[in-house]
Amino acid sequence: MDDTTEVKTSEGDKKTGKTVRVKNIGLRGVTVADTKISRIDGQNGVLIYRGFRIEELARDSTFEETAYLLHHDELPGREELRKFTELLVEARTMPRFVFDVLKGLPKESHPMDVLQAAVPVLAMADPEPGNETREANMAKAVRLISRIPVIVAGWQRIRQGASPLPSKDALSHAANFLWQLTGKEPDEGIARDLDIALLLHADHSFNASTFACREVTSTGAHMYASVAAGVGALSGKLHGGANTEVVKMLLELKGEKDIPGWIRNRLETGLKIMGLGHAVYKTLDPRAPFLRDMCFALGEKLHQDDWCQLLARIEQSATAELAKRGKETVRPNVDFWSASVYQFMGIPLDLMTAVFAVARVAGWTAHVIEEKFADAQEKPALYRPLSEYVGHYCGKTGCIYEPIEKRGTAKG
Ligand SMILES: CC(C)(COP(=O)(O)OP(=O)(O)OC[C@H]1O[C@@H](n2cnc3c(N)ncnc32)[C@H](O)[C@@H]1OP(=O)(O)O)[C@@H](O)C(=O)NCCC(=O)NCCS
Repeated sequence: MDDTTEVKTSEGDKKTGKTVRVKNIGLRGVTVADTKISRIDGQNGVLIYRGFRIEELARDSTFEETAYLLHHDELPGREELRKFTELLVEARTMPRFVFDVLKGLPKESHPMDVLQAAVPVLAMADPEPGNETREANMAKAVRLISRIPVIVAGWQRIRQGASPLPSKDALSHAANFLWQLTGKEPDEGIARDLDIALLLHADHSFNASTFACREVTSTGAHMYASVAAGVGALSGKLHGGANTEVVKMLLELKGEKDIPGWIRNRLETGLKIMGLGHAVYKTLDPRAPFLRDMCFALGEKLHQDDWCQLLARIEQSATAELAKRGKETVRPNVDFWSASVYQFMGIPLDLMTAVFAVARVAGWTAHVIEEKFADAQEKPALYRPLSEYVGHYCGKTGCIYEPIEKRGTAKG
């Protein structure tokens, strides 16, 4: 189909039977496929994974169990969880060449660039690269979930001139990540806080990075190619990069007496307040209160709760200013509090989006498998939206090509 051909939409067909042309800039409000993995109710601030509300999982589940749920459509039994956890632990050890590649990269490289470059290297470390069965893809998913944190922690060590640390097999996914990152075993409370933060970030329906993964998968590409695209999409400051931007905003504001003035000025000049607003939630993001509570609890423990107080003041002022402008639906999202929580855990600022990837890879891989193996009615064979051409147009014949010597010198 040509890009400028009129398209039939189900809406148009149902109402009038006529062909209508629709333009949904940025695909907002468009349903592009079915999914059984997660659901967001943006009006009521509800997020469910495979039927379970996120609040329920954050209270009682773990990242490992939630990752299993996202991949298997049901909670595991004790033995199933033991086996799944064992596979995750086993996969933490990977071929030496993966770190050799990372050691050759410039030390000042951004962790998200390193991670995006590392994912195809992990493809080369996969023992069954060409195997596209469901079972082989489930095994690749386990390897990716297990290895992305090892890469992120390993890069932190490598750029400091140290060697990556071996995994401690008895530690949970979250605790082992902090151990491999900092060289210190976290206390139980911190490990559980990170476990909950990872679980809360594990999936979020068709967000930009997940859609990037699904889109690449729809071409028939392998899981690593899809996940590399997901990492790239996550790095943007309107998506996963927002958590880092929130801390930058706080550093700019620290000691600032006139927070309302700063916010007004920002809004008047068309700048966003990072960590607020969401493309789907038109109320409070249900993940945000967990991270808010965590921020205050950790802040108090570390005698740094002034940092959280500052965030709370920004939240209050910004939501009040936005409400005055008729934008009362713009409320804190998950990124507003998460970066501060990670900071209290000793995670460096430029690594915070990579921590988001450590969590979201559970969802990405579940979506890749769903995309690869879903029934034809539930998904398109290949994502291929249309665009509206608004460039030069010279009629049916097209523009006349003039040889370069006849075009003059105006364009240098
Ligand atoms: C995520 C985001 C891109 C969604 O944008 P969106 O889909 O346009 O959101 P909405 O339609 O609800 O926005 C309604 C209005 O509020 C404004 N708005 C949304 N978030 C805002 C923010 N953080 N600061 C200031 N204004 C904001 C929008 O520009 C829009 O204004 P308009 O009606 O004058 O065009 C946007 O909220 C944003 O950039 N937030 C900051 C980055 C961030 O935290 N990202 C992480 C998301 S999990």
